[in-house]
Amino acid sequence: MAETYTFTDKDLKEIEKITAKYPDKQSAVLPVLWYAQDKFGHTDPAVQQLVSKTLGVPEAHIRGVVSFYTQFYEKPMGKNVLDVCTCLSCQVSGGYDMLHYIEEKLGIKAGETTPDGEFSVQSVECLGACGYAPILQVTNDKFVNHLTPEKVDKLIEDLRAGKQPDFESNPMPQHEKGS
Ligand code: FES
Repeated sequence: MAETYTFTDKDLKEIEKITAKYPDKQSAVLPVLWYAQDKFGHTDPAVQQLVSKTLGVPEAHIRGVVSFYTQFYEKPMGKNVLDVCTCLSCQVSGGYDMLHYIEEKLGIKAGETTPDGEFSVQSVECLGACGYAPILQVTNDKFVNHLTPEKVDKLIEDLRAGKQPDFESNPMPQHEKGS
């Protein structure tokens, strides 16, 4: 049986605060979906239905937003979601090699979750940091730049131990010394 999800009164108050910042409920779909994903860990069809009902926005619209952004999880995911960029710059810099390395290491394919629920892997479009290719993002948060098998090994080991990767800043060319 599909799981049912509800917002508490406290959630509804928070959602009201979010929607108050927008001219109409439809404009608040993105932040409310983020709120729902933070709470439930994903935005599967049952969560989409709840958001639709709460905002009075058609379910088809909610579905369209969720399916457009890989940042929204359409099903329950692992504790750590590894989004490996396989778009052009990352692709020519070994993005697929890194993806396949991770798949082999974890024993799963892109789109799957390890049986212990620790990791999910996704192949994603450009993460907007092409100069640092190949790159991956950890659970919609930190980026790991210039991936190598050694970096991947360390990342997976650290995440298993509950350690988050260090923040790697991505300076723009205009910020580099001497320019
Ligand atoms: S192509 Fe990978 S970050 Fe742009």
